[in-house]
Amino acid sequence: MTTVAVAGGTGGVGKTLVETLEQQSKFRVIVLSRSESKENSATGTSGLYVQIDYNDVPGLTRQLEHHNIHTIISAIGLTSEETCNSQLNLIEAAEKSKVTERFIPSEYSFIQTADLLPIDSSIQFWLDAANKLKNSSLQYTRVIPGFFMDYWGMPHVKTNLQPYRFGIDISSRTAAIPGDGNDVICMTYTYDMAQYMIKALDLDEWPEFSIVVGDQITYNQILAIVETILGEKFQVTYDSVDQIAAGNVTNPPMPSDLGYSQEEITDATALVSRLTVNGVFELPKEDRLNSLFPDVHALTMSKLLEDSWGGTKIHLK
Ligand SMILES: NC(=O)c1ccc[n+]([C@@H]2O[C@H](COP(=O)([O-])OP(=O)(O)OC[C@H]3O[C@@H](n4cnc5c(N)ncnc54)[C@H](OP(=O)(O)O)[C@@H]3O)[C@@H](O)[C@H]2O)c1
Repeated sequence: MTTVAVAGGTGGVGKTLVETLEQQSKFRVIVLSRSESKENSATGTSGLYVQIDYNDVPGLTRQLEHHNIHTIISAIGLTSEETCNSQLNLIEAAEKSKVTERFIPSEYSFIQTADLLPIDSSIQFWLDAANKLKNSSLQYTRVIPGFFMDYWGMPHVKTNLQPYRFGIDISSRTAAIPGDGNDVICMTYTYDMAQYMIKALDLDEWPEFSIVVGDQITYNQILAIVETILGEKFQVTYDSVDQIAAGNVTNPPMPSDLGYSQEEITDATALVSRLTVNGVFELPKEDRLNSLFPDVHALTMSKLLEDSWGGTKIHLK
């Protein structure tokens, strides 16, 4: 039985991967975490929980060998130099481990390339990991699902992601849309990405980029679908490309007690708006994993919106 470890398996994407992997009896699933196992498991799942120190590469290598970990899926939240270094150390330990052969770095977004660094400097975290893997003997693939659809189904959709609003806040019938609303955005539901990734574990060869797409849609189309579902018109503003370039963006209403300052929210809106109007979420149509695994029926945006909001007219203002 192949042992698959999920680093950061306690987080939003990681928990989803662990839950989905555990439904397959052919994998032994291990969660790698910096913390001690909480009572009844931090993930709420039955996977073996191993505490690790990302700063101790020899110790990490010993743990990988001791638990016979063949494949590592990283779902570390890459938000800082520190988290980036944790993942780089894990790659180094995996390269040194005699039993570890495959590594999926934490990415799960658009195709991050050096030419996009002026738009988003944090892309360097992803590039550093990809370069380290390229120069290793590990097999790797960078999983690219576009935007996670889950955000537009919150709070009704099943998801482990932290609540956040991008572009359209359906609860308050308000939209703050980047650009003219016609940029194409590829979107995938987290649990569907997990299904595709588990199927990809069986492939003998991995492509550099494993692209999966549940749907491709624009903000204007999402707005039209949800206005039809709810039978209500939204209050809509559009931020022009010039406004976005100047950082003068409109935040959609956010969930309460998010834990971020207004400045952090504006920075995040400005960043995602810049990325959106630069078209990064329109992913290549060729060589998507979807065509390899037609038995996975990924959720479309209209189905997610209908399932999440179809019965909510009466309950919301
Ligand atoms: N495309 C999209 O729409 C989208 C949306 C959300 C996320 N993502 C991507 O998905 C990936 C995972 O994001 P997430 O939101 O699931 O992350 P998250 O919940 O913020 O964090 C995941 C885990 O990272 C671990 N972690 C935190 N700091 C660490 C450190 N210094 N060193 C090592 N591990 C650390 C923690 O696990 P322990 O405390 O157990 O060690 C945490 O549970 C990221 O690459 C993110 O960019 C994409």
